[in-house]
Amino acid sequence: MDALRVELGERSYDVRVERDFDGLGQALSARFRPGPAWVISNPVVADLHLGAVLASLRGAGFAGRALLVPDGEAHKNLESWSRLVQALLSLGVERGTPILALGGGVTGDLAGFAAATTLRGLPLVQLPTTLLAMVDSAVGGKVGVNTVYGKNLVGAFYQPQLVWAAISCLATLPRVERAAGLAEVIKLGVIADAAFFCALEERASALAAGDPGALAWAVRESCRIKAAVVGQDEREGGRRAILNFGHTVGHAIETAAGHGRLRHGACVAVGMVAECQEAVARGLVDSSLLDRLVALLLRVGLPTVAPPLPRAALLDASMMDKKRAHGIVHVPFPVQPGLAEMFALMPQEVERLLDRVPGTAAAPLED
Ligand code: NAD
Ligand code: GLY
Repeated sequence: MDALRVELGERSYDVRVERDFDGLGQALSARFRPGPAWVISNPVVADLHLGAVLASLRGAGFAGRALLVPDGEAHKNLESWSRLVQALLSLGVERGTPILALGGGVTGDLAGFAAATTLRGLPLVQLPTTLLAMVDSAVGGKVGVNTVYGKNLVGAFYQPQLVWAAISCLATLPRVERAAGLAEVIKLGVIADAAFFCALEERASALAAGDPGALAWAVRESCRIKAAVVGQDEREGGRRAILNFGHTVGHAIETAAGHGRLRHGACVAVGMVAECQEAVARGLVDSSLLDRLVALLLRVGLPTVAPPLPRAALLDASMMDKKRAHGIVHVPFPVQPGLAEMFALMPQEVERLLDRVPGTAAAPLED
């Protein structure tokens, strides 16, 4: 299918949106000398898709072997990272050995951080298998793990050398996971591309139903938008921060609930609603955008309200926001459809923002 490129000078790389893993081994042989290749995955994804990856590697002369980490956000932590790094070292990994992250955002972030830190950096290839990972986490080089203090507080910017999104993987993805990925797709429309947002409204039913053509289109467009943003601001010194729309509130909900209890994408959906409400209250954007956002989220099966969470837990979680400096948090708010700007929020304004998290569930965050 199509190749997109993240332009970052010597760290530039292709994002390939493909039907399946045929051709992956060939693409790797253009980048790495055939030899060992470590595929990091989890048991759920390995059962479904590891065979195809290993066959493709074998066909191109690579000796692919797998290392599995238990499934789930609760395992995206320092303990899993430590076990992975030590396993790679004990198995004699060498500087040029590619690490392939096969799975969703949890696997990509964890395996990416292991690749970034083992031997001061092993070549990384992202093989995203969830919609969320295809449209967001596999592209852009943010890798890391959670701690009890909050989400993704230990990590690095470490770009992959290739991203290979095999759309056929989405056929095995549960509906709620597909919806979670659509939250990040919708986010990109709200903050960066009004025409894309309109097109998402037109195709909402096909996307919600898991139509492969509609999903491939959404992945391609999302990667195009994200690649452009990351190409302008790799290390989030400025514009890249708009990608955090919905995440100040979303991360606070995720951490307050306990990592792994609520889906990241679902929390971002609720976060976008709360942050858009604040943008409307500040007079930054017309309330029609909020109405359209809520309608679109509901049409694709996403929640717009959170389960009841203690206010103190939300506030505590927001205290550890990476974007906080001297008590001030920089939050992106939409200022028109397809455009967001950054705003500096004082602690009391962050509290007000968190008070916008509606606490009664009309649509469940969990299935
Ligand atoms: P996930 O990786 O936990 O995957 C969700 C579930 O789907 C898991 O149970 C997984 O085993 C399963 N799964 C994966 N692929 C499958 C497939 N093809 N078929 C069937 N089941 C499959 O969650 P996620 O939503 O992909 O990622 C969320 C994580 O991504 C969070 O940790 C979040 O912080 C991170 N994230 C990172 C970035 C970044 O820029 N690095 C951006 C957004 C999110
Ligand atoms: N997911 C936000 C970013 O990549 O910057």
